[in-house]
Amino acid sequence: MLETPVIVVNFKLYEQASGKNGLNLAKIIDTVSKETGASIAVAVNPLDFKMIKNSVDMPVFLQHVDAVEFGAKTGRINVELAKEHGIDGILINHSERRMTIADIEYLVHRAKIVGVNTIVCTNNAKVSAAIAALSPDFIAMEPPELIGGDVSVSRARPEAITETIKIVNSVNPVPVLVGAGVKTGDDVKKAIELGAKGVLIASGIAKANDPRKAIIDLVQGLM
Ligand code: G3P
Repeated sequence: MLETPVIVVNFKLYEQASGKNGLNLAKIIDTVSKETGASIAVAVNPLDFKMIKNSVDMPVFLQHVDAVEFGAKTGRINVELAKEHGIDGILINHSERRMTIADIEYLVHRAKIVGVNTIVCTNNAKVSAAIAALSPDFIAMEPPELIGGDVSVSRARPEAITETIKIVNSVNPVPVLVGAGVKTGDDVKKAIELGAKGVLIASGIAKANDPRKAIIDLVQGLM
């Protein structure tokens, strides 16, 4: 299980965070995690996974796996195969990779059986409540309109964070991460003050001119 508070960095398919660039970025983040003692995990694409996993000590997640069993499934990967290759966890239902609730339930269930962490992404408080009933390890609530922007969820939608945590706790107290537009340590600090157990972030690190400086700044918000 991830230690909280945690910063989860989603590399998406940003060129600055893919292939050799992804490996360099992962090493920078891993070094900052070791230097500061901060709990940081990354979510990477399946092609880069092994190379990154073999070069860092922090947890490495996949950004998506398919809700399928082994068999005649061309172009798919499942959580069982991903586990065999050493993944620590999976992001599920990211805003850029939505799934049906039946598939989310299947994946959370299979991930528990094989022993990998699950972070299920949601877009608002009500969807978070529905997902809480499935008992994932984490819910990551991200208002889609703020994703990739410069205004953080902590600043623009603080009420969405508190409402999500309240409704999730009323169903099943799954720890809640928040994301979208997170860029600074102040954004992280504010999210945690509002009750979040950490943040999910992408462009603030992947597109930063100086990713090391950006991640160090974010980590200050955990302290
Ligand atoms: O997965 C994290 C994400 O969707 C938020 O993206 O660029 O707003 O940090 P970003």
